[in-house]
Amino acid sequence: MPSLKDSVNKSAVPRHIAVIMDGNGRWAKKRGLPRADGHRKGALVIETLMDAAMDLSVGCVSLYAFSTENWSRPSTEINALWELLCSFFAEKLPVMHKKGIRVYHSGSKKRLPARVCSVIDKAVKQTAGNKGLKMNFCLNYGSRQEIVDAVNNWSAKAGPGEKFTQKKMAQNLYASDLPDVDLLIRTSGECRISNYLLWQCAYAEFIFLKVLWPDFKPSHLYRAVIEFQKRNRRFGGL
Ligand code: FPP
Repeated sequence: MPSLKDSVNKSAVPRHIAVIMDGNGRWAKKRGLPRADGHRKGALVIETLMDAAMDLSVGCVSLYAFSTENWSRPSTEINALWELLCSFFAEKLPVMHKKGIRVYHSGSKKRLPARVCSVIDKAVKQTAGNKGLKMNFCLNYGSRQEIVDAVNNWSAKAGPGEKFTQKKMAQNLYASDLPDVDLLIRTSGECRISNYLLWQCAYAEFIFLKVLWPDFKPSHLYRAVIEFQKRNRRFGGL
């Protein structure tokens, strides 16, 4: 009997998978642990996801790591997330670089602590020449803000009377060389998109999984891709 991974049609894998890593807090609560422990366990899953995505030759993975709305959380949780992010990159950047992964950042740098900005800048710069999996870390990211920023970026350089177009919009997004999202996966059973990649998800297939993010395994990715491959994508055509 073929393994789950072997059941994936390698010639039709999504080019871009976007993930909403939800459920860290509930995972911790169920175990009587602080929420930060859920985030810590969640961060460990990222390398597993990257390896599984590379095994399938997925081109790009976007991760929703911190939204523009997450600033409303207690500062202790926010600070724990920044610490985690910095230690994640300190440990995993050499590993990612060795694997040929190229790091992207989507989001506004305006409110990010300086140490987080420098960690992200270093990762983006160091991996810029890599040709493997593209990992887009969405940090201080909100899709509505991305759209506003894109319009403002464009209008600052637009000539008199120049018209705005869909192509110009796409060219002014935070990570403008990434393709549209083919598959969006959200864990934890919540069925909403939460201001994530609204422009890029115009024709994405959505898969909502009950599993909490810290319990996410490669098999969840393989199953989601197999389900994606059963969908009939018509892009508005017949
Ligand atoms: C949502 O779950 C998760 C987040 C807001 C943070 C995601 C962060 C990580 C997985 C780890 C750090 C990231 C990197 C890139 C190292 P939640 O906390 O809202 O879960 P809940 O809905 O159960 O409370």
